[in-house]
Amino acid sequence: MNRSTLTTYIEQHRGRWLKALKSWLAIPSISPISAHLGDVQRAGAWLAEHMRAIGLENIRVIEPQGRPLIYADWLHAGPERPTALIYGHYDVVAATPLDAWTTPPFEPTVRRTERGEDLFARGASDDKGQVFAHLLSIEAMLACDGRLPVNVKLLIEGEEESGSPVISAFAQSHAAQLQADVCVVSDTSMAAPNRPTIDYGLRGIWCGELTVRGPSADLHSGSFGGAVHNPLQALCELVASLHDPQGRIAVPGFYDGVRELPEQERQALRDGPLNDDDIRAAAGVIELYGEPGLCAAERIGARPTLEVNGLVGGDTSGQFKAIIPASASAKLSARLVAHQDPARIPEFLCRHLEAVAPRTVTWSLSTLAALPSVLMPPDSRAMALASRSYEAVLGTRPSLSLCGGSIPVVSLFRNDLGLDVVLMGFGLPDDGIHGPDERISLDVFERAVLISGDFLARLGQELD
Ligand code: BES
Ligand code: MN
Ligand code: MN
Repeated sequence: MNRSTLTTYIEQHRGRWLKALKSWLAIPSISPISAHLGDVQRAGAWLAEHMRAIGLENIRVIEPQGRPLIYADWLHAGPERPTALIYGHYDVVAATPLDAWTTPPFEPTVRRTERGEDLFARGASDDKGQVFAHLLSIEAMLACDGRLPVNVKLLIEGEEESGSPVISAFAQSHAAQLQADVCVVSDTSMAAPNRPTIDYGLRGIWCGELTVRGPSADLHSGSFGGAVHNPLQALCELVASLHDPQGRIAVPGFYDGVRELPEQERQALRDGPLNDDDIRAAAGVIELYGEPGLCAAERIGARPTLEVNGLVGGDTSGQFKAIIPASASAKLSARLVAHQDPARIPEFLCRHLEAVAPRTVTWSLSTLAALPSVLMPPDSRAMALASRSYEAVLGTRPSLSLCGGSIPVVSLFRNDLGLDVVLMGFGLPDDGIHGPDERISLDVFERAVLISGDFLARLGQELD
């Protein structure tokens, strides 16, 4: 199918597909909140039905009682034709605080903005909108041509935002069924439509909780203050010990194995389309922070972090209640890069805490998740093909960049299943993923449909 036929299809059916996408986005499929399990299941069922309606086959709802993983395929291009495995996720993160949204997160709305027409909803960019771009290109090709240029398998999960346990187990036990010539992951972003980028790596992540315990119960700070170490203060002292004043992580061993960036890659990140001031402005801070001598794109893409995501403890009422709390805890997380071992992070942290923690309190550290980073070879077949498709549709060859975020299953696809993965991201940096007023540019979305179609056609033409 050529690009102008696809463009016409998108235009002629705009009302219908926009309505469908909106009704999917209206389902609050928030995987990290267990009260939304039913909504996750409804969004999975919606997807399975939509896949059936557009002509995909062998639809499977895996783990229907949990957060379902949806599989579908279309395998009639012929055994000599290549196969593409397309991955994405239909679960979303919570939309709180709700009052920060201009229109409610689960009432999808199109509004004119400085970017053009944007569709606002939780999941518009991360990741239902990106998944839907592939569904629409497949729908158009099946409707107009009655066939696809290649065999396709789709694997769309409902718990990426919760660490991806089901798909990870499924991919390991169904490695043969998931074999494909290329694996397309659309869950990242590009710098701008006129300055496209393709990421060739994702950071890994370790998450855990540090708890500090002091007195056996909350104490009156008049009766005991000055003679008892406040656990909340001790926790802040420990958190403060994790970095040096320059912003380097001060935990011995933490940087073990970190891949030294080759000069060429460093230069590419420095010359990339997002400079420090763009990133500073996007973050809304007065000045950037981090390891000395590195640009922001390198700090975000190629260096690890250790963050305190939240502090819990003590009296937060704002009323008169002067206590020494019995305990306090910090939610910690680390973004990891090649070639750090996620399993060693708690080990380094414990050794550091043993050395610096005062004897006046006790502490414990738990792990919630530990996932490795992943790097794709930038000269792979999948990346080369995708690069040509972006260029054909957007008019500019994409530059390479590194994503600071994480997608749990990608390292498994690449390193355990040996798939040729390309991160075919269709988001934009100001889509507001995980924040209020998440949106996708409809103009970029329509071009994403064209890129998806061009990529599958190009993959199919390799044989001709
Ligand atoms: N789509 C994001 C990953 C991402 C983040 C891409 C930033 C581009 C820029 C993904 O849905 C996500 O949020 N991943 C989580 C994974 C975690 C829950 C294991 C993340 O990165 O925190
Ligand atoms: Mn995502
Ligand atoms: Mn996300």
